[in-house]
Amino acid sequence: MKLFYSPASPFARKVHATLIELGLQDSVELLLTPVLPGKPIEDYVRSQNPLGKIPALQLDTGETLFDSTIICEYLISTGPSATLLPSAGVERYATLTRQALAHGICESAVTIRYETFLRPEERQWETWIDDQWGKVERALDWFETHQVRWQGDVDLAQITLGCALGYLDFRAPDHDWRTNHPALTEWFTTFEQRPSMQGTRPHA
Ligand code: BEZ
Repeated sequence: MKLFYSPASPFARKVHATLIELGLQDSVELLLTPVLPGKPIEDYVRSQNPLGKIPALQLDTGETLFDSTIICEYLISTGPSATLLPSAGVERYATLTRQALAHGICESAVTIRYETFLRPEERQWETWIDDQWGKVERALDWFETHQVRWQGDVDLAQITLGCALGYLDFRAPDHDWRTNHPALTEWFTTFEQRPSMQGTRPHA
């Protein structure tokens, strides 16, 4: 299999970390694919993902899967059942919903990064940026106040949350998410020691 990825992307990290949690890392070739808004990689867009987004996973059959959640669901489905995601029932969809909430933190944080880093300062839209931070804070508050609902054996929602918090530390180091979220801070301090997190630390 081939994984089109960037070491800065929390979405690519989610797939890479899932591969490591499943013990599948040696069956994948990592292909650096530096995506940037306004600069589509023509070959990649034509041959892998018309949306131009990473990550994408090309299977040995030639089929390409995206987005990150679909790829993770596929990878999990190839392993023993009930690993990282309950196989059916409301527990499966509750776990997927928590991963969607953590995924939303990644989306808002990446949106803020693009708005503040790529767009000239005089054209930046403060209301939009504040709105994105509001989404991040409300999602973090939910995880802080619902620990018993999600802290247990590692699952796809926790992996996604680890990638979201890691991305905040990486791209928004001045944004102090820890002070108001002590339980999340304690959880992340332990979680980020996992080999799947240590082996996928974001870098530019
Ligand atoms: C980043 O550089 O922050 C980034 C790169 C790719 C996807 C998302 C974010």
